[in-house]
Amino acid sequence: MTGLSPKASFPLARPQLDEPWVKLPDHSAFETWSKQDEVAYNQANRQIEKYRFFVKAFDFIQDCKLVGDYHEFGCHRVRTFRMALSEARRHFLDHMKFWAFDSFAGLPESTSNPSHPLWNTAGALTTSEEEFRAVVERHGVYVDRVHTIKGFYDQVLTPERVNKFLDNEAKIALACIDCDLYESAVPVFNFIEPLLQEGSLLYLDDLFVGYKGSPHRGVARAFLEFQARSRFKFARHMDVGWWGRSYIAYLPQAKVADGVL
Ligand SMILES: C[S@@+](CC[C@H](N)C(=O)[O-])C[C@H]1O[C@@H](n2cnc3c(N)ncnc32)[C@H](O)[C@@H]1O
Repeated sequence: MTGLSPKASFPLARPQLDEPWVKLPDHSAFETWSKQDEVAYNQANRQIEKYRFFVKAFDFIQDCKLVGDYHEFGCHRVRTFRMALSEARRHFLDHMKFWAFDSFAGLPESTSNPSHPLWNTAGALTTSEEEFRAVVERHGVYVDRVHTIKGFYDQVLTPERVNKFLDNEAKIALACIDCDLYESAVPVFNFIEPLLQEGSLLYLDDLFVGYKGSPHRGVARAFLEFQARSRFKFARHMDVGWWGRSYIAYLPQAKVADGVL
């Protein structure tokens, strides 16, 4: 094998000091490359980018002394949820609660015709509540601060539940919206609106996923519609891979012009 092994070219790219200036796997390196390798390679690269985001997001939360909870909509394999727990612990955010909102029965029946085949399968991406809790227990960070809210969003994200958070003055520091479908994201945005504060971070995992990247479809569409009715504005913050982005909520001021930031 003369070229770099595709597995060894993780993460993403490594420089070299002559042409083509970056190490590339060649034909011989791909002789043993399997579909399974491709999936593992994609996952490892993607989760690294997400983890980089969580490291920076919690640094932001700590640095601007934002007080609030972590809300995750779409928890599945507890990957991003564990990233949040670890980074909160790193910064001693002992006041923070961690809310896991999921059907724990996978995706609902889709009505928005996503291009991602898996997203057209009701029940895909299922992790049970018990499995979720077991992973959280094994991770062992802030376990007693983790709360699960089980059910499909159009049924469980009720005004009564919003009021419970408001009664406890529990606002959002970071909301991770990772529920794939347009019809899943719509009730999520409605639910979080009263719980936002200046500085709340929104991470939209699927901004360009599942609908061929069209801003007129999917989570991007739900977010555009939400912006039109929210009392908050959203400053573009960090790009996360090719799929997602974070935004910072702020309240517009009459005398300050809005521009593209
Ligand atoms: C891509 S997975 C989330 C991955 C997770 N953040 C991780 O890092 O392991 C999507 C999750 O969203 C949940 N979900 C999608 N639409 C939902 C809805 N309408 N109501 C409740 N849960 C939903 C699914 O059950 C699934 O667990």
